[in-house]
Parts: sequence; structure tokens; C-alpha cells
Amino acid sequence: MTDRYAVIGNPIAHSKSPQIHQMFAEQTGEDIRYEAIESPPDGFAATIERLREAGYKGCNVTVPFKFNAFKIATELSERARAAEAVNTLSFAGDTILGDNTDGAGLVRDIEQNLGISLQDKKVLLMGAGGASYGVVLPLLTAGAALSIANRTPERAVELAKKFASSSVRGGGYADLTGSQFDVIINATSAGLTDSKIPLPASPLFPKGGQGGIFAQGSLAYDMMYGRETPFMAFARANGAAIVVDGLGMLIEQAAEAFYIWRGVRPETAPVIAALRA
Ligand code: ATR
Repeated sequence: MTDRYAVIGNPIAHSKSPQIHQMFAEQTGEDIRYEAIESPPDGFAATIERLREAGYKGCNVTVPFKFNAFKIATELSERARAAEAVNTLSFAGDTILGDNTDGAGLVRDIEQNLGISLQDKKVLLMGAGGASYGVVLPLLTAGAALSIANRTPERAVELAKKFASSSVRGGGYADLTGSQFDVIINATSAGLTDSKIPLPASPLFPKGGQGGIFAQGSLAYDMMYGRETPFMAFARANGAAIVVDGLGMLIEQAAEAFYIWRGVRPETAPVIAALRA
């Protein structure tokens, strides 16, 4: 019997998840069906109930329901607890297991696909909303020395405080003047409105080489995908060595969900190549 899965969001029509999971299934020979389901804003719990009754094995959850999914889960992984959000649900009897694969997807894209170890790297995470919550624990687990900066500094301080770790601190963008980072990750929603993030520019670049916020050989990573954001343009103009969007993260978080459900890890490189094309 074909096992059924879905991604639930609102809106959901443009989700790439069905296509990604279809490719994973073909590649691994897993017999699954995966569809996109739009839930009414106030109908998430009812949608989940309907899927469980129909025998679905699990689902992915995206905007704006990740916190609803966190609440509805009867069991949570450690990384979902830290994220205070769930993007992957697994149904088994009365149990609804909630997990969050976003941070693992980000770390895997950086470490495996881009070949950059995060161990002891100075990492700047920009933003203190849901997207940032999802990735802090996996970044710390990967050994990063993490600074979180946010337009509203208190939110970054509050997020950093949740982790009993000396490797994470939070503040505002003004605090960053004079600092350099090996990896700068944009987890803000500024790109959606084409707004700039108030990062300190590099006065010496390109004439005098480095000197700004991007350390030599640094990576600029935008969690958004599909187009060049103002942050990506800023990174190119201010000395980042590598500038990437979040397509790899999208596919890696899907692969991690597929692995949770099926116990098989799909190869992501051909899927990333196909979606880039
Ligand atoms: P989400 O859950 O999608 O992350 P959110 O909780 O509204 O949404 O968080 C959006 C993040 O992007 C916040 O960190 C926000 O900064 P504030 O906390 O100060 O609002 C950040 N953000 C949005 N637009 C921005 C902009 N133009 N410049 C800098 N940061 C921005």
C-alpha cells in the first residue's frame, strides 16, 4: 500500500515539497504519495485530524502553522523543543511526533554541500523570528560560535538566553561594528520586502581587501531562495567569498523529513541540480 504524506500551509500552491519528495521517492524506490494541502487559517487541528483518520503517515508543516504543529504534537524532539516550532509530524497510533528539520537542513547544506565546517567558526545569525529559532540549536551543536543580531535587539538577547551556552550571544546591528564573521546567515524576512539590513559596510573593500564584517573566505547565506536579495547583493559588494540562497536548505530539510519517515537518506545533489535548472 502506498503511504501518504502532505505539506500543509497557507498559501501552499507554490510549494516545491511535492516535487522534491516525488524525486526522493523515485530515487530510493519508496512507495509514497505526497501532496500539498491548504489549511484554513483557523482549521489546522481539524486538517491534521482529517489526515490521521485517512491514514496518512505524516506531514510537513509550513507558514503559518509551525507553532500550531508544535502545540498539537504529543511528543517533541529536542531540536523541535528548542525551535518552539515543528515542520515535520509523524503519525503512529495516538502519537503525533513533532520534529524540526530546518536547522539540520541548513547545517547539512553548509557542511556537506558547500564543504564548510562550522566547528569553531564565527557565525552571525541575522533575525530573531521563527526562522532563527529553528536553527540556533543545530548551529551550536555543529560547534559554531554564534552571534545573533536583530533590528529589535531585545528579541535577539531573549533568543540567545534560551540556550545555556557561552557560545551564543544576542544584540543589535550597531554592536557588530568592528567584528568579522566566517559565516553570515540571513534569517530575517527583509528580503520579502526587498529591504536592506543595517549591516556595517566594509570601508576597505574592494580597494584594501578585507576589513569589513565578512572575514576572508567567508560565506554569506540567505535562507530565502529564488532570487537575489539585497543581503546577497550587499555580501557580494562587501567581500563575501561565497554567496548562496536557501534552495539547498529547503531540499536538505526535506531530505531529513524523508529520513525520519522512511529511514532512508535520499541523495540531495541531483535534486538540488534539477531544481536549480
Ligand atoms: P518569521 O517567524 O517568519 O521569522 P517574524 O517573527 O516576523 O517572522 O521575524 C521576522 C524577522 O525579520 C525579525 O527578526 C525581524 O526583525 P524585528 O524582530 O526587529 O521585527 C526581521 N526583519 C524584518 N524586516 C526587517 C528589515 N527590514 N530589516 C531588518 N530586519 C528585519
